[in-house]
Amino acid sequence: MQLSNKPLILSNASEIVAIKSKDSKSHLRMSDQELILINNGSLILKNGKIADILDYPVTQANSPISEPFILMDVTKKTVIPGLVDSHTHISFAGDREDELEMKLKGLSYLEILKRGGGILRTVKATRKANVEKLIEIGKENANIMLRHGTTTIEAKSGYGLDTKSEVKQLEAIKELGDVCINSIIPTYLGAHAIPPEFSNNRKDYIDLIIDEAIPEISKKRLARFIDVFCEEGVYSVDEAREILLAGKKSGLRPKIHADEIVRTGGAQLAAEVEAISADHLLMTDDDGFQALADVGVIPVLLPGTTFSLMKNKHPKARWMIDKFDLPVALATDLNPNCFCYSMLHIITLACFTMKMTPAEALIAATSNSAAAIGLNQNIGSIEKGKQADLVVLDAPNFKYIPYRFGSASLVDTVIKKGKVVAANRPALVQTNK
Ligand code: NIG
Ligand code: FE
Repeated sequence: MQLSNKPLILSNASEIVAIKSKDSKSHLRMSDQELILINNGSLILKNGKIADILDYPVTQANSPISEPFILMDVTKKTVIPGLVDSHTHISFAGDREDELEMKLKGLSYLEILKRGGGILRTVKATRKANVEKLIEIGKENANIMLRHGTTTIEAKSGYGLDTKSEVKQLEAIKELGDVCINSIIPTYLGAHAIPPEFSNNRKDYIDLIIDEAIPEISKKRLARFIDVFCEEGVYSVDEAREILLAGKKSGLRPKIHADEIVRTGGAQLAAEVEAISADHLLMTDDDGFQALADVGVIPVLLPGTTFSLMKNKHPKARWMIDKFDLPVALATDLNPNCFCYSMLHIITLACFTMKMTPAEALIAATSNSAAAIGLNQNIGSIEKGKQADLVVLDAPNFKYIPYRFGSASLVDTVIKKGKVVAANRPALVQTNK
């Protein structure tokens, strides 16, 4: 969208939300992160990075840089870090909009799955789709997410299950990384369900994951992380351990869908295998939270999922922060059951259903979410030297994210690596030469 390589200056923001991380020697904690609010300040973006943060409006006359630049007036607007969606299943074929009626009739998620719906229905459709189709669908999803301010996306496989179909899905995800503006971080989730053809010999499928899929995926460098749906009726703690450790040995860092519906001890397993994150955690108890805090596993909470599953219960974000100082991260979990593109909406849900403050929720959706995919040294906050991934909001301050909820027009402009990549309304730009 912005073709010029000139530095970009965002000037006179009503608020710049710079998140500062204390350099803690041990694991990341929620209290290590601090919001620094700069009013009427400016940002200088150069060579894809944040070159400077200034506490005054830059004009053509007072610019601190001598070379030609593009000046963007962001008066009355708020600049936040690009949103990081650290848990998604964006690459799939076939929607499941009709399952809402089943849920309304009282069928549970696991009951729908047992009837061949849920994940298994998406597996059928995804196996049938060719790689081009998966790229087309993934591209559309990633593009919409970009317009909602998401500049980095973690993307899981898990709707192919057999090695060939998982590799196909991961190859589609890899291609998305090349063709999409958002950064795409791939995760192998072959243990997302037991494939129907292995329902009577699940051990054989686990052996295939370990002996065939993991070596191939790691050799082809198709994934950075390995994930397992550790849940009653899906993968047990012992099975998940075996798979995650095999992945870890091959260079894939563990992640885990833990304690989502039934408390199985997934959080403790995450700590044991030194997972980078443990996700969902709706049913986790204090022993589980303590285990995460002891080892430094990032808890990724998915309030969109509990909302779409119509649960009256929500992950205990408040408790996790207040009692355990856990660096809670947020993500959409975008999948055919929870088709939510918007991290801003997730921030709203986090405040209204999990009682996080707007500041905590913003940190969780940016800096902590970046930590959940190992990228917080480079993205997730507005700091000098970090990658210039930013969102300009049409709001006077960041508290309007949950306050003016459901407003797609809150996203004014999206900037990736210092360049304007999406603008929901024409920006006021001038060049000086
Ligand atoms: O994270 N819980 C398991 N996996 C996904 C849902 C996938 C699906 O329903 O298709 C999740 O919620
Ligand atoms: Fe998930």
